[in-house]
Amino acid sequence: MDASKTSERLQKLRAEARLGGGQERIDAQHAKGKMTARERLDVLLDKGSFRELDAFVTHRTSDFGMDKKKFLGDSVVTGWGQIEGRPVYVFSQDFTVFGGSLGEVHAEKICKVMDLAVKNGVPLIGLNDSGGARIQEGVVSLGAYADIFLRNTLASGVVPQISAILGPCAGGAVYSPALTDFIVMVKKTSHMFITGPDVVKTVTHEDVSMDELGGAAIHAGTSGVAHLACEDEQDALEQIRTLFSYLPSNNKEDAPFQDTGDDPNRREASLDALVPSDPRKAYDMHEVITKVVDNGEFFEIHGAYAGNILVGFARLGGQVVGIVANQPLVLAGVLDIKASVKGARFVRFCDAFNIPIVTFEDVPGFMPGVHQEHDGIILHGAKLLYAYCEATVPKLTVITRKAYGGAYDVMSSKHIRGDYNVAWPTAEIAVMGPDGAVNIIFRKEIQEAADPAAKRAELIETYKEKFANPFVAAGRGYLDDVIDPSETRPRLIEALKLCQNKRDSNPPRKHSTMPL
Ligand code: HXC
Repeated sequence: MDASKTSERLQKLRAEARLGGGQERIDAQHAKGKMTARERLDVLLDKGSFRELDAFVTHRTSDFGMDKKKFLGDSVVTGWGQIEGRPVYVFSQDFTVFGGSLGEVHAEKICKVMDLAVKNGVPLIGLNDSGGARIQEGVVSLGAYADIFLRNTLASGVVPQISAILGPCAGGAVYSPALTDFIVMVKKTSHMFITGPDVVKTVTHEDVSMDELGGAAIHAGTSGVAHLACEDEQDALEQIRTLFSYLPSNNKEDAPFQDTGDDPNRREASLDALVPSDPRKAYDMHEVITKVVDNGEFFEIHGAYAGNILVGFARLGGQVVGIVANQPLVLAGVLDIKASVKGARFVRFCDAFNIPIVTFEDVPGFMPGVHQEHDGIILHGAKLLYAYCEATVPKLTVITRKAYGGAYDVMSSKHIRGDYNVAWPTAEIAVMGPDGAVNIIFRKEIQEAADPAAKRAELIETYKEKFANPFVAAGRGYLDDVIDPSETRPRLIEALKLCQNKRDSNPPRKHSTMPL
């Protein structure tokens, strides 16, 4: 065939593939406030960097008249591209073709980019918009999902995996995203559930809308399944670009260094007056974080979930760090079940991908109460303890105020391999708060005193002087130093530099048996 004809044919086929399920369905997609699979890739990736794979693949099914309905590329667009010049493998489900449903070849295309991502040490981003298993393909599509689940699991901790949910995600379709590291949803247009409202009505007789059952706000705020709930698709894809900038490409690399221009020696005088002298008064831990990190930029993850602990990425002297911080503004920063699991997951991600962890600590302890105990605070709290204990990345800890009880141990203490542990002069480190402590150890003295209230107040003062300060811990070397709050930034950056070549490891084993 002559060259011009071949090229013509190629152009024609490419144009056909680009049209997915056709203009009518593209218009319907737009009418729902959604972009097409390809438009999304244009926003996610650097301009002109997308290289498509398998654009000419079609399904092999003939049941239900499927042999007469074939679309080039089937219902997913796959390939690679770049974000800020760094490579990434992508798949983007095309709702205009069979509702983005997943059958044999759709899964084969995804598995191909997953295998390439792991082999080449390149992150994977999946844009999900699918009606789930392709009904016409029956058990083949169930097996095809399992092929993806296996790869998600084997890729876990090897390359970062990010999922955007940009449409319906039901049944098995939720479990591939659930196996990945980050889930980003869009308000109103994205949903995740095991079964939709109709099945819920039949089984549990509950009346619930799609949004109430599995919308972005529910998963980002109540279930914790999603890490970010974004205003629209543009926002979601831009957030993923930012998140990506903090991540290394794989578990053998460090996160990319960026010259942020912020002076490593910058002292922040306002921090010296931030912690209120009354220990019952709260302050915003966000303020501590943003005043310490480069240019005040803190990329918070899971911000709408378990607000009593804050997690997210930032840079210190240009180097990416994971921040974990108790938040006195919410439930006094107590560690409850949700906060423990949220913190544990983040710590494990950072450890898997060589991201140093900076912990800001102001925690009155684990949350007491019947509900917490019956729902397993012991089990779930142990996850955070476990995650910090096993982490071998550099661990820097700043105690800003309270470090009480087991929470003192958990939050990256010296005893569990903290590399640089410091406290502000306002720190209170003890088995429990002064009020609770004197009630227990001086119960008799208080009861027998002529003026019990005065006696109690006096004993509280004595206790505070003895225990509720950082110098007992510093005197034992459990703290490396007590520092002025204003010098936190330069001290952390110095310590981070010293830990740059840190070598530490855990005993060899098949895998640990963490309390799940
Ligand atoms: C084949 C499907 C499909 C599916 C949608 N379509 N879902 N084709 N298999 N699972 C097709 C429709 O026939 C239609 O084709 C097009 O996609 C758009 O669908 P609509 O229903 O017109 O769109 P909309 O009104 O927006 O509703 C979208 C939807 C709904 C909410 C996703 O289609 C739906 O409920 N689909 C079924 C969802 C489901 O139950 N999936 C199975 C989950 S179980 P045309 O040709 O008209 O454009 C599962 C098991 C996996 O996934 C287990 C693994 C462990």
